[in-house]
Amino acid sequence: MIFFAHRGLSATHPENTLAAFNAAVDAGFTWCETDVDLAACGTPVLLHDTDLDRTTNLSGSLYEHTAEQLASADAGSWFAPEYAGEPVPTLAQLIDLMNQRGLNANIELKSNEQGRERSLQLVDAVIEQLDRLEPGRQVLVSSFNHLLLAELKRRAPRYRVGALFTREMLQPDWLSVLELINADAVHIHSEGLTRATVQQLRAAGYDVNVWTVNSRARANELRNWGATGVFTDSAEVARI
Ligand code: G3P
Ligand code: MG
Repeated sequence: MIFFAHRGLSATHPENTLAAFNAAVDAGFTWCETDVDLAACGTPVLLHDTDLDRTTNLSGSLYEHTAEQLASADAGSWFAPEYAGEPVPTLAQLIDLMNQRGLNANIELKSNEQGRERSLQLVDAVIEQLDRLEPGRQVLVSSFNHLLLAELKRRAPRYRVGALFTREMLQPDWLSVLELINADAVHIHSEGLTRATVQQLRAAGYDVNVWTVNSRARANELRNWGATGVFTDSAEVARI
């Protein structure tokens, strides 16, 4: 089973910072997960929220700040004083870290809220960065916006994609959605997930990666059901 350090090692480090990704490697993770969207200048950066308020010393929309402004932001102090000055990283910085430290990543494309052109720009900018990965590095692109995944797969079929689902998104026709977008994996919320659903998806040929699992007992159960991976904030869970 793959353990993805969710937003880096986010139980003990500020989420989606280089400190959190380095800590994940130090703790023995070989995979991480991160969230990617475009800054005002068109640079892909790592941030979960569209607003900067929760995790940085800036406020307002990500879309109104450049990567340069984000590089001098403080995305660490909100978590703990010792992380003061940790910037909002670019995707390029994570790619460098992956190459240097042998880390693999699930890149989650956020559902960009600025329309079609900007969304396609996000897809292209991510492909441009992924193409810098060195041989041996693995990557999996996911999104709640399945149209973005279809577009990425059309432009760069060499990359594996995972369709994100909440429980509410599970429609009777979800297997046909997976087929239409040419998905390789399903990334599904742990709450309410049953053995039958995991087995149905595995039988249909999809990897099943489950978020967010912070209990060792639940991770064990999911592994026994045939799940291929779990996203976790904690290094403890990865010790099952
Ligand atoms: O990719 C799994 C998980 O990260 C999806 O939800 O909101 O934590 O990005 P969220
Ligand atoms: Mg995410």
